[in-house]
Amino acid sequence: MGEMLLVIDEGTTSTRAMLFAPDGTVLGSHSAELEQHYPGPGLVEHDAAEIWEKTLGCARRMVEQAGGPDRIAAIGITNQRETLVFWDKVSGEPLAPAIVWQDRRSAALCRTLKEQGEEPGVQARTGLLLDPYFSGTKIAWAMENWSQLREAGDRLALGTIESWLVWKLTGGLHVTDATNASRTLLMGLGSGGWSDGLVDMFGAPRDALPEIVDCAGTFGTTTLFGGEIPICGLAGDQQAATIGQACLKKGETKSTYGTGAFILTNAGTTPPTSKHRLLATCLWQLGGRRTYALEGSVFVAGSLIQWLRDSVKLVETAQETEAIARSVDDNGGVYLVPALSGLGAPWWQPEARAAITGLSFSTGRAHIVRAALEAMAHQSHDLKQAFAADGADWAMLRVDGGMVTNDWIAQDLADMLDLPVERPEFAETTALGAAMLAGVGCGWFAGLEEAATMRGEIRTFEPRVDGAVRDARLSGWKSAIERALP
Ligand code: G3P
Repeated sequence: MGEMLLVIDEGTTSTRAMLFAPDGTVLGSHSAELEQHYPGPGLVEHDAAEIWEKTLGCARRMVEQAGGPDRIAAIGITNQRETLVFWDKVSGEPLAPAIVWQDRRSAALCRTLKEQGEEPGVQARTGLLLDPYFSGTKIAWAMENWSQLREAGDRLALGTIESWLVWKLTGGLHVTDATNASRTLLMGLGSGGWSDGLVDMFGAPRDALPEIVDCAGTFGTTTLFGGEIPICGLAGDQQAATIGQACLKKGETKSTYGTGAFILTNAGTTPPTSKHRLLATCLWQLGGRRTYALEGSVFVAGSLIQWLRDSVKLVETAQETEAIARSVDDNGGVYLVPALSGLGAPWWQPEARAAITGLSFSTGRAHIVRAALEAMAHQSHDLKQAFAADGADWAMLRVDGGMVTNDWIAQDLADMLDLPVERPEFAETTALGAAMLAGVGCGWFAGLEEAATMRGEIRTFEPRVDGAVRDARLSGWKSAIERALP
């Protein structure tokens, strides 16, 4: 049996393959950027063929580096969630662009369904809300507007990204894991199966849907690397990061600041119900039994810095934002509400637009950059209040993702949340979670607790700001966000 795990981490902006040793040491990593297609306002698409080719290329590099397929015990896959791929079961080729989770094209349908009073029933069954973010209304939109999907008849397959990658790796196995399925609006959260009523409501072609499976086990085998490698771990990236942060007990919470920011609290083995506009979702499914999470999803985090760099040209690199933020004593009264693709939790306002408030002649570039970084803590604080109101307040927060390698942001989170913030030295917690699942799936570990020995050192940021300063910041943010809401 091989002595390494190969992880595929297919994210929104890049795809990556990594090699892990049993103790969590990373033995290799290779990534490729993905092209983002913005065919119109609110529209975000990916090319599923590009995702596959680049993912395969990265994985091939890692298998070579490992010394061949025999050295690899198992593959774990983790992925951007909700993004939907449509393909032909016979040719194995995409039939349409992949509709990305950020895409807002089904906003009108969501509005209509809400006006028809469907949201409470949908939330009770799926744990989700009626927002274009989730896959269900994307399916409805695509079946209505893309005739090639209807014409494909029973050749049509659809699925989220892990489903697409497993199909391509195995040459035709059509599965999805319960964490990804729980983001589609089609899965009954309590039953773990496709709900006929929801499948009908969103006009999803039943025979085009994958089979829902566990997050660890042996799902299939790929022979694309010159030998057999089993696929043993599957999970959506935010669930994988929660596992990689070892939030294995009820109440333990992580927040990932990547393209967006996603905060998940382990909610135990009974599906939670949010009364404060949070999501209930499957955290993992093992042996057919599900553990659940409450989730707050913020659509814009790292993508704000990318936008400041690439579109507004206010900064040259993401790294320099830390020094720029430190170069001023405070935000000078400036607040930035990053509603560049509407607002997610707890507001769920697809029509909200971004705002910069409090500008005056004394405002400089550094104040705006600082306000952008501060928005991470402000958005997290809004979620903290919603979690607390749902009876799931956080005792501390485990953070990860590209943005919190910035020490200033990590400290600002501790200050504004008034909580210890723990940051692992090893930042790739999403990939680590997928490795842990693959390690359980291939029999290396008896369970996730044992797999958590793969984790490394942790650094803690303690809150140290004055309470009056915190209150002033949070009330400034409250006024700013009220202006951004439609
Ligand atoms: O729900 C969307 C999420 O899975 C995207 O994650 O890491 O690509 O920003 P990421």
